[in-house]
Amino acid sequence: MTSTPDRPALPALLGGEPAFPAGLPLTRVRVPDRAALLARLGAVLDSGQLTNGPTVAELEEGAAELLDVPHVVAVSNCTAGLMLVLQAAGVGGGRPVVMPGFTFSATAHAAHWAGGAPVFAEAREQDITLDPADAAARLAAADRPAALMATHVYGTPCQTERLQEVADAAGVPLVYDSAHGFGSRRGGVPVGGFGLAEVFSMSPTKVAVAGEGGLVATRDAALARTLRIARDYGNPGDYDTLFPGLNARMSELHAAVGLNWLAGLPGRVAHRGALAAAFGSAVAGLPGLRLALPEPGDVSTFKDLTLILDAEVFGLSAEESARALKAEGIDSRRYFHPPVQRQRAYAHLGQAENLPVTDRLAGSVLTVPMWTQMDAATMRRTADAVVRIQSHADRLGAVLR
Ligand SMILES: Cc1ncc(COP(=O)(O)O)c(C=O)c1O
Repeated sequence: MTSTPDRPALPALLGGEPAFPAGLPLTRVRVPDRAALLARLGAVLDSGQLTNGPTVAELEEGAAELLDVPHVVAVSNCTAGLMLVLQAAGVGGGRPVVMPGFTFSATAHAAHWAGGAPVFAEAREQDITLDPADAAARLAAADRPAALMATHVYGTPCQTERLQEVADAAGVPLVYDSAHGFGSRRGGVPVGGFGLAEVFSMSPTKVAVAGEGGLVATRDAALARTLRIARDYGNPGDYDTLFPGLNARMSELHAAVGLNWLAGLPGRVAHRGALAAAFGSAVAGLPGLRLALPEPGDVSTFKDLTLILDAEVFGLSAEESARALKAEGIDSRRYFHPPVQRQRAYAHLGQAENLPVTDRLAGSVLTVPMWTQMDAATMRRTADAVVRIQSHADRLGAVLR
């Protein structure tokens, strides 16, 4: 197989050697410092206390320090954390909650379970985070809106200043779905302290992992107190429940796993940024391809490394590119396609046609493999496969269509 500088070797679908014959998964979780983790787990088991114990408290304190916020409340997962924050913020009674259509379904599900009605708003062309101007318009048009939600998509920090102005002008609380954002920074400030609360996920595809888990970060002491009761059925301690809460506690075992990721987190985020930058350099100049990137001065966790493809110019759609990558052994996902306003769960809301920018962007995204311990050579090889595919897009198109 030979290649020339202007015409790289053949892609696998056209008879070339696959980039990863053994396959390259989208993500690979490798727990840092296994010995420390086993010691922590052993201590939990020895204590005989598997829930409501000191390990959760230690995780909360460590996360609060990293996020530079006064309060962190650990929960069983991000979805439950969002539900409880929205409940505490007064969402309910079918009142509108404005949120991006370009997000994971759990953002909308949380609002639904809290008793709100999702109203979907547009994404920004640049980085696919919530468009503040469109959110403002949807809030203005809504009947007694209850809250504004925004997602730091892939870890890209939202327009936090503008969104706060929009929420303040509408008189609603701003709640961040920060599932992807543990370690992101907006202009040097850690994501975690914006809005009324930010809710992180510690599920296995994330940058800090508890197995399953979530963290609510807030500057509001009263909210933090309410959430500690809410995650325990609404029980303030005497079993005379104050409101219908959930069992959304994080177990001591999950907290032990989660704690293990806190030390060294900034370094791991920096490594992911360097991998993304290396990928970006290798694909720079390819027609019809750009990356979902944070604004200059911001830091993304790159929970996902996502390509935004202009199919006309790139020569292949996101879906076709995914199939071509599959032949190279490279796993990919179309995060987030379909966008939430188009998912069957929300068809009854009649908002499927409302978001043309989101539709176009959701049709253009393709997330490629990236994990914290990935080495530069693997990233480079992935980028080279993308280059190879684009260079032969014309012939690949004929095979794929
Ligand atoms: C944007 C977003 N929000 C919420 C969630 C749900 O997180 P969890 O699985 O911790 O409930 C996810 C999960 O991937 C997500 O991507």
